[in-house]
Amino acid sequence: MTRFSFLSALVIAATSTAALAQDGPTAEQKARQGMMRIMALNMGVLGGMAKGEMPFDAAKAQGSADTLVAVSGIHQGNLWPQGSGMDDSMTSEALGTIWEKPQEFASDWSAFGEAASGLQAAVAGGQAALGPAMGKAGKACSGCHETFRKKQE
Ligand code: HEC
Repeated sequence: MTRFSFLSALVIAATSTAALAQDGPTAEQKARQGMMRIMALNMGVLGGMAKGEMPFDAAKAQGSADTLVAVSGIHQGNLWPQGSGMDDSMTSEALGTIWEKPQEFASDWSAFGEAASGLQAAVAGGQAALGPAMGKAGKACSGCHETFRKKQE
C-alpha cells in the first residue's frame, strides 16, 4: 500500500466511525434498551400496587408479572454483541464488564428470571405478598446494574 492510499484508508475509517456515532443506537442496543423499559414499566405497576399508591388489581398484577417472566425468557445472546458497550459506543450505558465476566452477567439475568417467577407466584397472595417479592426483584435489577451498567447520577 502506498503512503497515499494508506492515509485515505485512515480518513475513510475516521469518517465511517463518525457516521456510526450519528446514526443512533444499533438494532441490538435498541432491542435491549426497549426490553429494559418494558421491565421498568411493569415493575412500576407492581411497585405502585405494593406501595398502595395504586389499588391492587389482580388481573393487572398478573399481567405485569407474566410479562416479566416472558421477558426473562428472551434469548440474550443476540442482544449484547462485543463492541456494543459504552467503551465503543455513545448510545449505550453497558459496561465492558459484560464481556469480561459473561458468566456473572448470565447468572444475574437468571436471578432476574427467578425473581420474576417469584412475583408471578406472589400475585395470588394479594397486595401484602407483593411487597417482599418486589424487594427481591428490585435487588435483581440493581444487582446487575451495579456491576454491568454505567452509574446513574
Ligand atoms: C443481567 C443484567 C441486568 C438486569 C438483571 C437488569 N438490567 Fe437493566 N440494564 C442492564 C444494562 C447492561 C443496561 C444498559 C444497556 C445499554 O445501554 O446498552 C441496562 C439498562 C436499563 C435501563 C435503561 C434503558 C434505556 O432506555 O437506555 C432501564 C430502564 C433498566 N435497565 C431497567 C431495569 C429493570 C427495571 C430491571 C429489573 C426488573 C433491570 N433493568 C434488570 C443490565 C441489567
